[in-house]
Amino acid sequence: MAISIASKEVIGSISNRSNFGKDSRAERTNMPPLFESKTMSNAPLIIRGGNPVSGILPVNPSKNAALPIIAASLLIGEPIVLNGVPRLSDMECILEIVKSLGANFEWISQHSLRIHTPEITSIEAPYSLVSKMRASFNVLGPLLARAGEARISMPGGCSFGVRPVDQHVKALRAMGATVVENNGDFIAVRDRPLTGRFVFDLLTVGGTQNAISAATLGTGIVRLENASIDPDVIDLCNFLNTMGAKIHGIGTHTLEIEGVEKLHGGEYNIIPDRLEAATFMLVAAASRGILTLTNANLAHLRSVSAKLIEAGVGILEMDNTTVRIDASSNKFNPLHLSVAEFPGFPTDVQPMMSAFLATVPGTSRITDRIYPTRFGYSAELNRLGAKTEVLDSSILIEGTRLHGAPVKAADIRAGAALVVAAAAIEGETRIQGVEFLNRGYENLEQRLMSIGVDTTRDGLRLANAS
Ligand code: EPU
Repeated sequence: MAISIASKEVIGSISNRSNFGKDSRAERTNMPPLFESKTMSNAPLIIRGGNPVSGILPVNPSKNAALPIIAASLLIGEPIVLNGVPRLSDMECILEIVKSLGANFEWISQHSLRIHTPEITSIEAPYSLVSKMRASFNVLGPLLARAGEARISMPGGCSFGVRPVDQHVKALRAMGATVVENNGDFIAVRDRPLTGRFVFDLLTVGGTQNAISAATLGTGIVRLENASIDPDVIDLCNFLNTMGAKIHGIGTHTLEIEGVEKLHGGEYNIIPDRLEAATFMLVAAASRGILTLTNANLAHLRSVSAKLIEAGVGILEMDNTTVRIDASSNKFNPLHLSVAEFPGFPTDVQPMMSAFLATVPGTSRITDRIYPTRFGYSAELNRLGAKTEVLDSSILIEGTRLHGAPVKAADIRAGAALVVAAAAIEGETRIQGVEFLNRGYENLEQRLMSIGVDTTRDGLRLANAS
């Protein structure tokens, strides 16, 4: 299906031929802001915290590893089985996207999925789904590699600042693809196997993943420098190599990808979710409890563990996958930290860390230069009595005693921060915006209840009372 295009001028005819962008702008602006899960309730969460958590919790599989791997399944013509796919609304969304492009899938157990894409039936990712989730942009590389052409809009997703895709585009161009942007729609075409070298301007997880997937098929060799070494990038590489890809240098900042004619089917186990694990570590810390997490990858959690230890929380690694968090001493220190790309402290954990530090006497400061405006949760924490202030790319936190109030999550980790704060609060915290939590946390209320956090859903409580 490879199509040669020499200049921007021909794009008009390509667009017309496939009716690209057929969702009108008017329809687009009326789109609901989030993927509407068919299976998950968005009823507000009611949390009555203040009791130290206790118990054992197995960590769920990783959302951010599963999403690009499902997107990359488009590269493979034979059936594959993925073990360790979390049941989240984001999974429903990416599965709808790959289905619209030719994939068939079925859940074969709670966390196992069979996917088969005998052929690519469409090269255009539907805007109505792409607008819901940034990770949908990850289908660009696989479509370009397998079908020779891909069409996708600027992705949506959590709105905590500008999230450009220039690195994705520059990498594909450096590898020989023609990529044209037209009013926020991207059209990528290759007329020969991708080959070449690209040095990323910055460490980007999604950009590295898209470039890797694009380079996997063909006869060329692609060298990617300053590539992300995030665990989710490594997991994608390991998945692709399991299916026959030839990616060298995995886990380093320089990757060399030798194209292969095709990938084969197989089975792959996705990594545990370090962000879910970190969230529960912080729930334990905020509630002054003792919690054991099993099925964790502790190497992925070192930066979070290090900061918790500095704050005075006991962290005991019992083996490679089990960690005990002991916050029962109730003597904690404020922290100063800056987020950084892996192996640094994750930007995705800074909102939850802020929530814990809001309960720790003294002044803490967290700086986020990856997403310098990712502090929208500060006002919501302040509704709970927190004393936080946003200054440039930092949040200043003066520890105090929090109280219950109605609050609203504005993105996945902002919602998780409210859950962490609520776990510390004796009164009732009512959290709206649960559709964001459903994107990243499977069975959140049951899991909180299983460790002793009194949690229910607004509708459920009313139903019980009536
Ligand atoms: N960036 C660019 N140009 C690009 C790509 C990225 O300037 O073309 C910048 C971003 O604006 C940001 C930095 O590079 O400042 C890192 O962005 P990255 O590309 O690494 O982020 P992502 O791949 O879009 C993933 C996670 C996010 C997480 C970030 C950073 C998934 C599905 N998403 O996004 O997770 O915050 O990496 O670690 O893996 C979440 O799970 O709540 C979440 C938002």
